[in-house]
Amino acid sequence: MLNLRNEFIFAPVKLGYSDKTGEIKQKHIDFYKERSLYLGAVTPEPLFMDTGLRELPTQIGINHDSKLDGLQELTDTIHKNGAKVIAHLNHPGRMANPKIPGNYFWSSTSKACENGGASPEKMDRRMMDKVIQLFVDSAKRAVRANFDIIELQLGHGYLLAQFISPVVNDRDDEYGGGFENRLKFPLQVVKALRQAVEIPVIARISGDEMTPNGFHIDEMIQFSKLLEEAGLDAIHVTAGSACSTPPWFFQHMFVPKGKTWEFAGKIKENINIPVIFVGRINSKKDVINIKEKYGAEYFALGRALVADPDFVGKYLNKVSGLIRPCLACAEGCLGGVKQGKGLGCVVNPLVNTDYPQVKPAKQTKLFAVIGGGLAGMQAAITLKDRGHDVDLYEKSKLGGQFNLAWLPPNKSSLKEIVDYYISELKIHEAHQVNFINKEANIEDLKIAKYDGIILATGAIPAVPPIKGLKEFYWTEFLEDNQLPKNERVLVIGGGLIGLEVASKLVDGNNKVIIVEMLDEIARGMEMLEKVMTVKKLKEKKAEIFVNHKVIEVSGTRVYIENGDTIKEIHIEDIDKIVVATGMKSYLPFKSVDEIPVYIVGDAKKVGKAQQAIHDAYELAVSL
Ligand SMILES: Cc1cc2nc3c(=O)[nH]c(=O)nc-3n(C[C@H](O)[C@H](O)[C@H](O)COP(=O)(O)O)c2cc1C
Ligand code: SF4
Repeated sequence: MLNLRNEFIFAPVKLGYSDKTGEIKQKHIDFYKERSLYLGAVTPEPLFMDTGLRELPTQIGINHDSKLDGLQELTDTIHKNGAKVIAHLNHPGRMANPKIPGNYFWSSTSKACENGGASPEKMDRRMMDKVIQLFVDSAKRAVRANFDIIELQLGHGYLLAQFISPVVNDRDDEYGGGFENRLKFPLQVVKALRQAVEIPVIARISGDEMTPNGFHIDEMIQFSKLLEEAGLDAIHVTAGSACSTPPWFFQHMFVPKGKTWEFAGKIKENINIPVIFVGRINSKKDVINIKEKYGAEYFALGRALVADPDFVGKYLNKVSGLIRPCLACAEGCLGGVKQGKGLGCVVNPLVNTDYPQVKPAKQTKLFAVIGGGLAGMQAAITLKDRGHDVDLYEKSKLGGQFNLAWLPPNKSSLKEIVDYYISELKIHEAHQVNFINKEANIEDLKIAKYDGIILATGAIPAVPPIKGLKEFYWTEFLEDNQLPKNERVLVIGGGLIGLEVASKLVDGNNKVIIVEMLDEIARGMEMLEKVMTVKKLKEKKAEIFVNHKVIEVSGTRVYIENGDTIKEIHIEDIDKIVVATGMKSYLPFKSVDEIPVYIVGDAKKVGKAQQAIHDAYELAVSL
């Protein structure tokens, strides 16, 4: 029995906020304190059980008694907020980080993951016993650190799943081959852990490996029954593997929402212990749907609580306001962790930054915000939250250039942030945010006697001088009704926008030729998106030239040149040309009499949504 005060659990999400000591820092305490107020339980990030088994150099550990004080401070903090604390124990096996000195790699196989990583040692019985002991010691330490529940990682392509998986496990001994054999070692760990501690134990499993020769839901139903028989208290059902299917593991926007719920539902039908549902649960509607469709008792939320720490408080009507939606973009959270900066968030400027919380301004002022893109809307809302009056000028549609961001294939979830901002603005329209649907001109701005003007006018495409280039397109083809079919389209620029347009064009059966000046395409694209987009383009036979520059267009013929060898080639029969060679800041003016003018977002420096939102917040919170 988990005995939580409600059905919401914070899922295990790596933060990367520690250092090489693996100790708890104030940042962890603050992060989980803010998020545990209304939850049933919190699972802090996976705890490494041995310094040689780290996934991140900045992960927190439970490897030694010296960690107890820090871990107790963390559990105390969460307990004070009324939530229980779950220790997530994982042995990464061959998925330990090969870049961390001192890491070692054990597995059911000696094969490295096909997508990179170290070549592991194939485990023998002695090694298996050591692993069991490591789990037992760590679980006992977790009890001493006042954790209430243990979660054992049996999924996501980590060590125990490396035994379960038929594609990974290539053993010919009693731990390989048939399903029963592949479960043998994982079940030994389960039983040892069950005996070692009296507190509840949850199994985290992948309902499906999401790879053709991997394990699938029917086997996982059988496995779940055995976990129930072994005395475990709940099954937490996710999907995918860190090695072969990371978009499923991280529930990236490129994979369909709800598949993990379906797996959890099927398992729930077959067992009597609770099942925890997880994966892109990011609105009240999602929670209600899952309850209605599957009778779910428990929900694990990861990124929804990163994006909005008050998600559950708002769901329970204990906190007012709209839920700031997680976009499933993985850009700020996973991207921040992978880059070594620690988990951040595109839509929440307060994650992993030093920006102050919103406080009422000492004196109410009147501001004009020019431009209703992400930066403009964030600035307007934060100014409003601080008690200022705001006129928000937008000549066309709120959302600005970000209205293009959700048009590429599989990116519709990005629209949710624009809808959120628009709803926020509407709620406050009557009093503090006055939306003016026209272009601001200097005369109007002078007359209105503003205390400050915020230019959030975004960016416009930068078109390089190319001989003979007359008719060309930018992002028009992202719109379904403008998508050409069966044509030859040249895309100049293989950055984020160029690749998004190319990805849409191949859906229209167009022959796409991409010419990129630099030595790499997809610069600036989020990692998972990059891998999937480049794979798709290659499968659809898009022709990609890197280190090449378009030098001339002549009718339907285009000349390109290799930057190194200056060797000219020509490409024939081009029907259409897309120019996506970058953006430049757009500033209609820089001063208005003596009124202070501030510039934010792309208008200041061309960047991504995260920079625009953060920049606008940072400014607005200081005015
Ligand atoms: C940055 C990041 C790190 C994560 N790290 C882990 C991990 O170490 N182990 C794990 O089992 N799941 C991990 N997850 C997956 C989450 O626990 C969760 O299953 C997933 O994010 C889907 O839930 P959500 O859509 O509510 O975020 C991670 C997710 C993110 C975004
Ligand atoms: S960065 Fe994107 S995916 Fe990650 S929590 Fe924020 S909105 Fe969600």
